[in-house]
Amino acid sequence: MANITPAQHLEEVLDRYRDSPNPRLAEITTAAIRHLHAFVEEVSLTREEWFTGIKTLTAIGQLCDEKRQEFILLSDTLGVSMLVEMINQAGAEGTTEPTVFGPFHVDDAPRCAMGESIVIDPSDADRPLVLTGRILDLDGQPIGGAELDVWQTASDGTYDVQSDDQTPMNMRGVFTTGLDGRYEIHSVRPVAYPIPGDGPAGALLFANGRHNWRPGHVHFVVSAPGYKSVITHLFDAESEYLDSDAVFGVRESLIIDMSDGTCDFDFVLEPET
Ligand code: BEZ
Ligand code: FE
Repeated sequence: MANITPAQHLEEVLDRYRDSPNPRLAEITTAAIRHLHAFVEEVSLTREEWFTGIKTLTAIGQLCDEKRQEFILLSDTLGVSMLVEMINQAGAEGTTEPTVFGPFHVDDAPRCAMGESIVIDPSDADRPLVLTGRILDLDGQPIGGAELDVWQTASDGTYDVQSDDQTPMNMRGVFTTGLDGRYEIHSVRPVAYPIPGDGPAGALLFANGRHNWRPGHVHFVVSAPGYKSVITHLFDAESEYLDSDAVFGVRESLIIDMSDGTCDFDFVLEPET
């Protein structure tokens, strides 16, 4: 009798997962198994390499706690987080392009009056920036009562939650548009900053000759009753790393000339279905 082949082995493994009582779980598990087996075969994974992978995943798990999520960082740097957003936030033609959420959003940021500054802790390195524009529907009509939840790093490249030197909620705010759909936010030019590189996800980046920097950006969640929310960023066109973002979040349509201290951008939302 002939020895069992990898293809026959795969079929046996898949067969035992096909009767799962949860059809969606069966779909996901069997697809993951097929791709994992194909990956191991494609690269002819050695036992040593398999164990290196196991040790890396173990170290990633051991580093995770409520503040540090190394698995999400791995997902980000492999381009998986961005792919999940592309699939789940896919918008109609003409809507604002989405990008990654990232781990630094904080719920309950201060509610700000239109035109207010989100800078609580000014610094000598600040380069002022005024962000203006409108929230529009697909017909170009302004959306009143839309909310912009905004966050970015201080000029030293750290978020308030990463720094003992910043007042909580520095560089964060929630703005609500009036009937004209307009917004105006006073802030500072965003700077490029490194994502955490001191763990196994960073080690994998560096071992592959990659860096851990993100280009300067301002984060937004734009929402309005009756419309699909969009999670996105605006990137400073003069920033470094626009073509090598560590987490693959840059989109051409989100790169804005901020060189004169202004950033003008209209967000476009589509109706909820
Ligand atoms: C961020 O832009 O805040 C971010 C996104 C992904 C990973 C780390 C940080
Ligand atoms: Fe960020």
